[in-house]
Amino acid sequence: MTVLVTGGAGFIGSNFIYYELEHYPQDRVICLDKLTYAGNLNSLKKALENDRFRFEKVDICDREAVEAVFAQEHPDIVVNFAAESHVDRSVEDPGIFLRTNILGTQTMMDASRKYQVKRYHQVSTDEVYGDLPLDRPDLFFREDTPIHTSSPYSASKAGADLLVLAYHRTFGLPVSITRCSNNYGPYHFPEKLIPLMITRALADQSLPVYGTGENVRDWLYVEDHCAAIDLVMRKGREGEIYNVGGHNERTNLDVVKTVLKELGKPESLITYVKDRPGHDRRYAIDPTKIHEELGWLPKTRFDDGIHATVQWYLQNESWWKDILAGDYQNYYEHMYGKREKA
Ligand code: NAD
Ligand code: DAU
Repeated sequence: MTVLVTGGAGFIGSNFIYYELEHYPQDRVICLDKLTYAGNLNSLKKALENDRFRFEKVDICDREAVEAVFAQEHPDIVVNFAAESHVDRSVEDPGIFLRTNILGTQTMMDASRKYQVKRYHQVSTDEVYGDLPLDRPDLFFREDTPIHTSSPYSASKAGADLLVLAYHRTFGLPVSITRCSNNYGPYHFPEKLIPLMITRALADQSLPVYGTGENVRDWLYVEDHCAAIDLVMRKGREGEIYNVGGHNERTNLDVVKTVLKELGKPESLITYVKDRPGHDRRYAIDPTKIHEELGWLPKTRFDDGIHATVQWYLQNESWWKDILAGDYQNYYEHMYGKREKA
């Protein structure tokens, strides 16, 4: 089997590549990645030593380059992780989100049709469902919850999902979609909540919590997400959507305090800053379908996952220090410098 992974130099994609290489010793894994600010070949160092792995620097919107790889490799399964993934950046500059997340998905599906792949899998997000109120803990996102997006990022992911379902119905492309909640774990880019807090706390810098810190996210350890994608793309039904999440809801403030406790740093580092525009209040996944149909359950408890994640950042300082030393320096100043105190 040949598995083609897009966006494999990013957070979840790199974890997924290691998952596939380890669990399927007969399979080849091909990675297409444009290496945007979020793509990092250092995350694939060990994979690059494996002769069952091939990396190509390719923009998924570049039809010619994409097709050249399909013509050489004839992948059996295509998994599309490649995306612009940060909500705050989509508020600053929506255009690139529409290009990569929607048009890139189209390009990947056109090539998948032309080369008759057995499965095209789209890695989507629970953000396509919008948000839930904080005072209704009985409500969860199900696969039939209407699409109701808040940010340019989530709207672009929802647009892509609709296109994937349209390619299934119109052209019979054998597709599947997973919609997962917030991931955390190794190789997570330090612009996102958990790695941002770990790396800043380690330097005794202020920790910017948006608004009141009461917004709720449903956290899943990245390896559990990889296992879910793997199951769905190999055994899930064609044309179906599967929600992925482990019933692990926490307020942002709880998450930041857990990180501080793990690092032995004081809560006085927490600083409340101006809220994100359109900030989704609560995400919460109902994972009944993937559990009942495919037997998937998360394996990692939050406390263990956070401990493992903090240890990973402590043991892999050069990975994130290299990022902080590059363009990212300007990013923090640009995005946070103008957030007045709440
Ligand atoms: P990431 O930002 O860490 O990585 C994205 C990767 O895609 C990078 O390697 C980047 O170089 C690559 N990329 C971007 N534009 C590209 C293009 N035009 N062509 C080729 N490669 C390109 O993202 P992530 O957090 O790993 O998310 C991966 C996928 O999972 C995304 O589709 C995201 O929507 C989805 N998702 C993420 C989460 C989460 O919590 N991080 C949860 C659910 C779903
Ligand atoms: O739910 C899945 C989604 O999770 C994915 O589709 C996205 O790609 C991924 O980035 C993530 O989106 P969020 O917006 O939930 O993640 P982020 O880490 O940016 O923020 C998590 C929460 O923490 C959110 O409520 C905003 C808040 N936050 C974030 C940052 C970066 C802060 O309070 N301060 C911060 O500095």
